[in-house]
Amino acid sequence: MASVKLNNIKKRFGNVDVLHGIDLDIKDGEFVVLIGESGCGKSTLLRLLSGLEDISEGDLYIDDERVNGRSPAKRGIAMVFQSYALYPHMNVFKNMAFGLKISGKDKSHVNEKVIEAAKKLKIDHLLDRLPRELSGGQRQRVAIGRAIVRDPKVFLFDEPLSNLDASLRVQTRVELGKLHQELKATIIYVTHDQVEAMTLGDKIVVMNKGRVEQVGAPLDLYHHPKTQFVAAFIGSPKMNFLQGKVQQADSENSQVVLESGRVIRASIDTSSLNEGDTVQLGLRPEHIALNCSENTFEGTVTLIEHLGELSYLYVDVGQEGELVLKVNGDNQHQAGDRIQFGIKPNYLYLFDHEGKALTRINAHQSPSIPL
Ligand SMILES: Nc1ncnc2c1ncn2[C@@H]1O[C@H](COP(=O)(O)OP(=O)(O)OP(=O)(O)O)[C@@H](O)[C@H]1O
Ligand SMILES: [Mg+2]
Repeated sequence: MASVKLNNIKKRFGNVDVLHGIDLDIKDGEFVVLIGESGCGKSTLLRLLSGLEDISEGDLYIDDERVNGRSPAKRGIAMVFQSYALYPHMNVFKNMAFGLKISGKDKSHVNEKVIEAAKKLKIDHLLDRLPRELSGGQRQRVAIGRAIVRDPKVFLFDEPLSNLDASLRVQTRVELGKLHQELKATIIYVTHDQVEAMTLGDKIVVMNKGRVEQVGAPLDLYHHPKTQFVAAFIGSPKMNFLQGKVQQADSENSQVVLESGRVIRASIDTSSLNEGDTVQLGLRPEHIALNCSENTFEGTVTLIEHLGELSYLYVDVGQEGELVLKVNGDNQHQAGDRIQFGIKPNYLYLFDHEGKALTRINAHQSPSIPL
């Protein structure tokens, strides 16, 4: 296994800049998840790492060796694509064995590796089948198996589970997590799925338009996003934002006045701001509570979505707009109901006019739902 270091990596297609200077330090055995909006450069970054695409500027190191010019086959990297990219005319065994065979490994070694990987992935009973005779989940495992047999130093996964149905996705996610623990492999994994990112990643890299917006452990990003962009990206349903102005700037007990004149108290350090400065208040749906009498709001339920264990309430609070609340699944409210709710000062987030987060004081550390 290996460490990976990216030093000011840039990518240009013609005169279009796609990656603007990516710095990343990935430790040996780390599971790193890349997330970001469609088109922000995640797949491009993986293709640069694998060698499928040339790096325009910057340095890429694998285990402290600069590998910019090295061919894909010699980088010790295996990539698993969303589309599986299996050879349709080869059975599972041959698909998994192909890479090893062309690299000149002897037959008994190839057999051993393929069977070992197939057992690990629970596809050892499918070795004679063609890809078209497999389900999506089975095909994806063959693609992962094909990567495993090569004993790569680094695995790259580009949205590997997005073609699977919901339950298979969960199952394969759990298996991938276990596989990582077993192989202790360095993994760089792209996904659009919140839960995959939060559960699989030792570290999440949030990308924004070809730049790294923030890197951190999943809960670190959840509790302490550095920008409004990251705050909006981590968490589902996403954080509610309300525009306001600083009414009282303070190092821990700040007050923000909303457009309706409502004053909100927030345990946030606004000492760098001035009274009257425009800010965005952030309220996570899971932190707004029906039985909370601090920072209260009143509004009309416009929609309730039942997910079973939980429900989402969409509430029109008048001039400030709509807020989404995450409540207990046995909640009986219906569209049209008037409700009251609140949020504690140390559950709030605050962002300045440039979207930079202000420091949260005594921020709660438990993501539990105050129902
Ligand atoms: N070969 C290419 N030539 C020109 N532009 C390209 C090329 N490949 C990618 N791009 C552009 O680079 C940008 C980043 O693309 P990329 O595929 O890396 O995005 P992504 O983050 O993986 O998006 P998605 O989440 O939709 O997969 C896009 O604007 C894309 O149009
Ligand atoms: Mg992509």
